[in-house]
Amino acid sequence: MTSAPPSHGGDRVWAAALARCQDNELLDFSASISPFGPSAGVVQAIQQALPRLPHYPDPQYRVLRQALGTALGLAPDWLLPGNGSAELLTLAARMLGDCSEVILVTPAFGDYFRALTGAGVPIRRLVWDVFQPFPWEKLKELGDGRRGLILNNPHNPTGALLPRREILPLLERFAWVVADEAFMDFLPPPEQESLLPELPNFPNLIVLRSLTKFHALAGLRLGFAGAAPQVLTQWQNWRDPWPVGVLAEAAALAAIEDQAFAQKIWRWLPPARGELEQGLNALPGLKPLPGAVNFLLVASAVPVPPLQEALLKNHRILIRDCLSFPELGDRFFRVAVRTPAENQRLLAALGECL
Ligand SMILES: Cc1ncc(COP(=O)(O)O)c(C=O)c1O
Repeated sequence: MTSAPPSHGGDRVWAAALARCQDNELLDFSASISPFGPSAGVVQAIQQALPRLPHYPDPQYRVLRQALGTALGLAPDWLLPGNGSAELLTLAARMLGDCSEVILVTPAFGDYFRALTGAGVPIRRLVWDVFQPFPWEKLKELGDGRRGLILNNPHNPTGALLPRREILPLLERFAWVVADEAFMDFLPPPEQESLLPELPNFPNLIVLRSLTKFHALAGLRLGFAGAAPQVLTQWQNWRDPWPVGVLAEAAALAAIEDQAFAQKIWRWLPPARGELEQGLNALPGLKPLPGAVNFLLVASAVPVPPLQEALLKNHRILIRDCLSFPELGDRFFRVAVRTPAENQRLLAALGECL
């Protein structure tokens, strides 16, 4: 195996080799995952599900779909669990195969390119200068009824929250719209701009959600899609049976119920992000962009790769360089918001390295 620089955050094996330590000794700001999870309730649910290991999960995931539906105010057949939202993105890309091309506003999450290329779907980039407003007008012009669109809301890597009122007119103009809402849970419900409630109004809408970030279950793999029942039935015919194991199923049920955990995240995030943003702003040559969720994109006056290397070698701290986003290049990095003490460690280390 080569040890090429990673194209996702959270490549702990690569980072640990560079930092000459075990991966559990790293302080990982590169993957935007809640520092508090998984919750005790989720861990307990996984433990209690261990006796179910000899059995296959329900191939229809009836109990989980019912629980998701109750939590989200949708009928269960509009929702489908998956092996992380990445699995569901692969299926969504295949669904977009009848589009003339699919528009990606870039910089964009790299996995969209993987999924669309794998499905043989032509991609058109609409480049967004992240210091400028989101290109809504350009998107409207591109909507010709035959193209598809993948939107990421809140947007990774900028953290921008896109208003639902701007997205809704696009649903009339594109053959398919996929809304990747992997980070939406980090906003309390009144502040969310989710398109899930719009599903019954738009048969061409697909919403992807992840439980791996908010509930810190990246290693378990867990997400769900919202779409019209005929779309989801098609996906079940395409994919392997049982992509969500019994442990992930049990974890999902517990996670959906855990309101106390959600409240804790919503209380922690705004002040922790505010402090981190202020601290980054106070460092020479760094300019964080305003972000709505649990990570910040930071413009850097100095090239990031040597900074990333110094943080790893001297402090065992991993930040996400943005080399895999060609529009951003080597003068941006992304950091997750972690606990106040960990954020201070990052700021102190950055102060030393800069
Ligand atoms: C924007 C975005 N969508 C989807 C995913 C994939 O998440 P999951 O772990 O649910 O497959 C990620 C993971 O980094 C992401 O950043």
